[in-house]
Amino acid sequence: MPLERLISARQLTIEVLHDIFQRARKMRAICQNSGRTSLLADKMIGLVFLEPSSRTLLSFQSAAQRLGAGIVFIQGVGSTSFEKGESLSDAIKVVSGYCDLIVARLPKSGDAQIASAASSVPFINAGDGGNEHPTQSLVDTFTIMEELGSLANLDYAFGFDPLQSRSIHSLCLVLSQFENVGFDFISPPELQAPGWLIEQCQSRNVRVSQSNALSELKNPDVIYLNRLQEERFPDRSLFEKYRYEYRLTPEQIPSSTRLILDPLPRVDEIALSVDELPIAGYFRQAQNGVYIRMALLSMLLGRTL
Ligand code: CP
Repeated sequence: MPLERLISARQLTIEVLHDIFQRARKMRAICQNSGRTSLLADKMIGLVFLEPSSRTLLSFQSAAQRLGAGIVFIQGVGSTSFEKGESLSDAIKVVSGYCDLIVARLPKSGDAQIASAASSVPFINAGDGGNEHPTQSLVDTFTIMEELGSLANLDYAFGFDPLQSRSIHSLCLVLSQFENVGFDFISPPELQAPGWLIEQCQSRNVRVSQSNALSELKNPDVIYLNRLQEERFPDRSLFEKYRYEYRLTPEQIPSSTRLILDPLPRVDEIALSVDELPIAGYFRQAQNGVYIRMALLSMLLGRTL
């Protein structure tokens, strides 16, 4: 069954991943050769971004334009009728009359479900509060597949805010489908992975461990880091307490490590000196965002190259 809406990484079955990866490879070839195609020349994409974004917003814009589509957008609430008290549902109903697909980044967990229900056109969750970021997990898994050739039979370490990182939540949901994977969550004690995520992973036979110190890193194949989610801390002193304590340096990287990823933006979680290592894949990962989002737009709009 082809996807029409993407709300959660739970929808990203192995079959869907396979389809999107195949499309993304074709999109990469287009970007590297002619640079664009007219596959979606008759389509209009609506971008509704009510939380800050650089990568997700720009890569969707780039993807839409490389596919020949037009764009209408809302960026931030300041210049829109949200300022006058318009509801999310009403706004999305209106925007869906202006375009053929909506991509939305929304501030609260669960907002994506509400917005999708209000939309009369295909809908993509580009991050809803501290809940999920399913298009990021497509970017992440595509990058791992292209760099390591497999998503199975790998040990993954996740840090440093698995409680509040929507990127970690969605990536774990996708990776937990694969055979023989282990997840080691590294975080301060107050920011451990949520119970629902641990239970989901264990129910799928993932080897799960948790630790509070970088020095306790096991032997990961992939280290996936995300900044402490400053904007989601109810108590700012907790953020200040840990922001410099959890930082990966070259000396702390176990020799087993084959790839280091970060959805970015990087703040304090990775020392700049790590960038020099060939296994530092986070800028290649960000670039893959364009190919993956071209693939996703084409899939949800029912077009094939
Ligand atoms: N990875 C990611 O979602 O980055 P932005 O917040 O800049 O979109």
